[in-house]
Amino acid sequence: MKKLLIVSLFGLSSAMGSVMSSSALASDHAPKAQAWTQIEWNKAAREMTQGDASRGEILHRDGLCLSCHGVNGVAPSRNAPSLAAQQAEYTYKTLLDYQSGLRNEHDGKATLMHVATQPMSKQDMADLAVYYAQQATPNQSIVLDTPVDAATIRLVKKGDVSRMIVPCASCHGAHGEGRGITPALAGQTRDYFVRTMQAYKDKRRTNDIHQGMAQFTYQLTDSEIDALADYYATLNQTSSQSASQGVKK
Ligand code: HEC
Ligand code: HEC
Repeated sequence: MKKLLIVSLFGLSSAMGSVMSSSALASDHAPKAQAWTQIEWNKAAREMTQGDASRGEILHRDGLCLSCHGVNGVAPSRNAPSLAAQQAEYTYKTLLDYQSGLRNEHDGKATLMHVATQPMSKQDMADLAVYYAQQATPNQSIVLDTPVDAATIRLVKKGDVSRMIVPCASCHGAHGEGRGITPALAGQTRDYFVRTMQAYKDKRRTNDIHQGMAQFTYQLTDSEIDALADYYATLNQTSSQSASQGVKK
């Protein structure tokens, strides 16, 4: 796939500027694939082949993934997601979902990832996934204008019973480390985080099994989503205010 992938991405790179900025290209790039049931996904996860991280690293480099997702999977811009320290099972699932068209936020960025995943075999996806999982959690050097407030930390750690919002940390982990198909969020780039939360909220991102994620975004306000993005972007900072704060009762 290596050769194929390079060819397709070189073709892509010339169109990249327009793909990334133009919504004219944000077409329905594939028939919407059938959503996963939990049983189907469990089967797919069981059949996931053992990934080879060193091969994954080569694919990451030669497949030009690094031009957007950065050396070692730490994104150089706020716009693209970091992939470093991501859960292997989550990365594998989301690559499958881009390939099938199930993950399709109807913008140029999803189209780009749909094209980039076309030549991939499941082995390639497993190799990439394991490679990213082995990289260190991104430690972003961001200084927030306003520190993350207690209400946001409460949302993460305690949720909000009145709106049936389950604490983010109960699924994504106390340190935003994720588990299985629940993604790691620690150190995730801010703009990507906001964009994908908004996509769940307005039902453009629908690849989550049984709306396992989307159900918690419907009632979040824009400013809550922004604050949650700040919280997770700075979670892995060694001297972060957010990481060291507890919930005040
Ligand atoms: C031109 C830039 C670009 C290139 C090249 C690129 N990506 Fe992406 N990728 C993106 C953007 C932007 C997103 C986020 C899309 C969105 O906003 O919904 C993304 C999303 C992803 C995600 C989902 C991340 C998450 O947290 O859900 C994975 C995994 C991924 N890319 C892997 C790859 C791999 C592997 C390659 C190489 C074969 C690659 N990408 C090449 C820009 C790129
Ligand atoms: C019941 C478990 C659960 C809860 C609670 C939950 N999530 Fe999620 N979240 C998930 C799963 C599972 C996914 C992956 C879904 C998919 O495949 O698209 C996800 C995906 C995400 C993503 C996309 C990450 C990426 O790399 O694309 C973000 C951001 C996110 N969650 C933030 C939050 C925040 C913030 C909260 C709290 C308000 C929260 N989640 C609560 C299970 C949960």
